[in-house]
Amino acid sequence: MSLAIVYSRASSGMTAPLVTVEAHLSNGMAGLNIVGLPEAAVKESKDRVRSALMNTHFEFPIRRITINLAPADLPKEGGRFDLPIALGILAASGQIPRDKLAEYEFTGELALSGELRGIRGVLPVVLGVHSSGRSLIVPQQNASEAALVQHAKVLSARHLLDVCSHLQGIRSLLPCVPEVLSVPEKGTSDLADVKGQPHAKRALEIAAAGRHSLLYMGPPGTGKTMLASRLPSILPPISDQEALEVAAVVSVSNSGFDPKKWKCIPFRSPHHSSSSVALVGGGRPPRPGEISLAHHGVLFLDELPEFTRHVLECLREPLESGQITISRAAFQTVFPAHFQFIASMNPCPCGYAGSLTDSCHCTKEQIKRYMGKLSGPLLDRIDMHVEVARLAPESLTNQAAEERSEIVRERVIQAREYQYQRQGKYNTVLTVPELDHYANIEREAQQLLNQVMKKFNLSARVYHRIIKVARTIADLEGSATISEQFLGEALNYRSLDRIKAII
Ligand SMILES: Nc1ncnc2c1ncn2[C@@H]1O[C@H](COP(=O)(O)OP(=O)(O)O)[C@@H](O)[C@H]1O
Ligand SMILES: [Mg+2]
Repeated sequence: MSLAIVYSRASSGMTAPLVTVEAHLSNGMAGLNIVGLPEAAVKESKDRVRSALMNTHFEFPIRRITINLAPADLPKEGGRFDLPIALGILAASGQIPRDKLAEYEFTGELALSGELRGIRGVLPVVLGVHSSGRSLIVPQQNASEAALVQHAKVLSARHLLDVCSHLQGIRSLLPCVPEVLSVPEKGTSDLADVKGQPHAKRALEIAAAGRHSLLYMGPPGTGKTMLASRLPSILPPISDQEALEVAAVVSVSNSGFDPKKWKCIPFRSPHHSSSSVALVGGGRPPRPGEISLAHHGVLFLDELPEFTRHVLECLREPLESGQITISRAAFQTVFPAHFQFIASMNPCPCGYAGSLTDSCHCTKEQIKRYMGKLSGPLLDRIDMHVEVARLAPESLTNQAAEERSEIVRERVIQAREYQYQRQGKYNTVLTVPELDHYANIEREAQQLLNQVMKKFNLSARVYHRIIKVARTIADLEGSATISEQFLGEALNYRSLDRIKAII
């Protein structure tokens, strides 16, 4: 029988569905046909496979060769099917044994010489194979990434000939061993670099402790960008499972996984000229965008009102649900996007509104239009808005040491600990019933909140956000209840509600 079956995997969002590569040799006009919705790169596979077989002194059968990639309705892309196709042809023509093939899955692109080249998105493939019980053979270039999944059976090979020797029982391939992954080096930027601004720093600490979203507002050159970029330095470390999820997103993105970045907290700061596809993901085939690359990390949008309205509106769904669904006529792809959101903006187009020292020339109308770029629903989803004032000159020359990130981080970790002990999650993701149950607001604090709600006519969503932030402040102080003082501080971090009540 001149039929062989080889298993491989396609790439679909964050998953890697099984693909069966069937190779059949029959009589008729000699040639190679690939069927099963192959895209351009798979078609090119023909030429690569033919050359690779010839250059490794195998015989390229002068028969009618049909390759079927099943299921047919699954989009397939990239050169990842080269190796399984080549093995299918070799097995169907009796040049390598067929019996062992069913124990393995294969993925890899072939160079014309028969050498194996790495593929993008190998991590989801390893995860898929792991649950199927088979072993996986990957190109050597993907070995370190594949070894991140513990207990998965993965072998790596440099050349098509190595794979064939393994299947023929001549020389076994070696399993991928995990590289000794370095613990991320401490970032070069430390919170201590930022002079003064105690109010803004305190807000950053609270945001880190409860994983709250935060918007800095203030004139240019006050350190907003500096502060925001130091958020990862005060966040708790990410777990192995989270790091694996981060690596999987990077693995299917265009950049590819870098073992040096293992366990680094993602920090993404896309430019305001970014398109919505770059930000939320998309394309054909769909790739994760900045929000997914910030999964389990931080997404920082500097100069928030400069982003187009459409791009900002795209953020609403992921901010609420922690994932993004990209829908196309033929298919849907879901990418994770559980990020902490931080943004900065000037208070008006010229940047100096509300400043005591610089005069602002913007009219009320201009300021209103500028603020109007941020829609109500988006602002509703931001827990804290904080004004960053111009720094007094003496603060800059002050030689007194500022608090280092390490020390702030200890407090953040402690506050997160309280949250996990109490409710099993951090404060910002509490649902309304959970919040009612765990908030523990003192009576005076509740009265204060009711007054403010009435005065500024705030929405129910804002009401719950204020309580969540107050809960985090109480956690930082190690207090079981939310006192009037904590609630008062939380209300302080709602600058935009006050500004909007004025303009
Ligand atoms: N609080 C501060 N401490 C030390 N340097 C500061 C501070 N604020 C601003 N700077 C200096 O000003 C530059 C611009 O700061 P940046 O964070 O970009 O301001 P913004 O984003 O508010 O416009 C920084 O690179 C730094 O040299
Ligand atoms: Mg800036």
